[in-house]
Amino acid sequence: MHDMKRRTLVLAAGVVVGGLWGAPAMAGPTPSMLSNTCAGCHGPQGVAPGPSIPTIAGMPYNFLKLMMTEYMKGDRPSTIMGRVAKGYSDVEIDAIAKHFAGLKWGVQGGASVKGKSVDPAKAEKGKALAKECEKCHEEGGKKQDEDTPRLAGQWLEYLQVKIDDYKTNEKYPQPKKMKSQMDKLSVEDLDAIAHYFAGQK
Ligand code: HEC
Ligand code: HEC
Repeated sequence: MHDMKRRTLVLAAGVVVGGLWGAPAMAGPTPSMLSNTCAGCHGPQGVAPGPSIPTIAGMPYNFLKLMMTEYMKGDRPSTIMGRVAKGYSDVEIDAIAKHFAGLKWGVQGGASVKGKSVDPAKAEKGKALAKECEKCHEEGGKKQDEDTPRLAGQWLEYLQVKIDDYKTNEKYPQPKKMKSQMDKLSVEDLDAIAHYFAGQK
């Protein structure tokens, strides 16, 4: 019993020492050290545990770097990420983007029962409406190129919030061709499309 207690204390002390004095003594921050900051919200391996935060693991490097840089410069409106990203240099953002791009995508979110869940009827309607979106977000949003993020299996609530930004916030950066599709579709139709993409595995 005593031994167990002591071991726990030693382990806890080890964490404190590592955190306070261990880290700055190293030559420079490693990508995984930087990325530990992100784990509290985006999950330990970039797979987000909650519906309003996106999974970022395995997303394209260019896309991650673009998002972080725009958050840092204040070019992309956000609730939290502007403040988070301001804490890093360009070089660090590059390292962070590489780190998360190299992790494995996970569908802890997406069609999960924990958040708002996907409505099959809306998803079916969305599938028919998503044709224009699928010119870039191919294969039900599973396919990504270096600039285009994966949509398949992302948290529904996050897709809804972000689509709302694209649709209604004139200051929100986005590709011109995407904006013209957003303009053509109603809020209800875009919601159905969000259900469709979130429900893809
Ligand atoms: C306090 C919670 C929190 C922390 C810490 C945090 N994020 Fe975020 N992240 C969010 C939220 C919320 C959003 C949605 C944008 C917003 O409203 O700020 C987001 C959005 C993003 C996006 C956009 C992804 C997409 O698919 O649109 C990226 C990339 C990102 N975060 C990377 C990071 C990285 C890298 C770190 C660590 C350096 C980090 N975040 C730390 C909460 C957090
Ligand atoms: C011309 C190609 C193109 C078309 C068409 C397009 N998108 Fe996109 N989409 C992109 C690119 C590139 C990004 C990332 C860059 C950005 O957000 O500025 C993106 C980002 C997104 C995101 C953010 C995902 C995330 O994790 O942050 C959502 C949601 C999205 N698109 C939904 C749609 C929907 C819905 C449609 C159809 C109405 C659509 N897109 C049409 C290219 C496209």
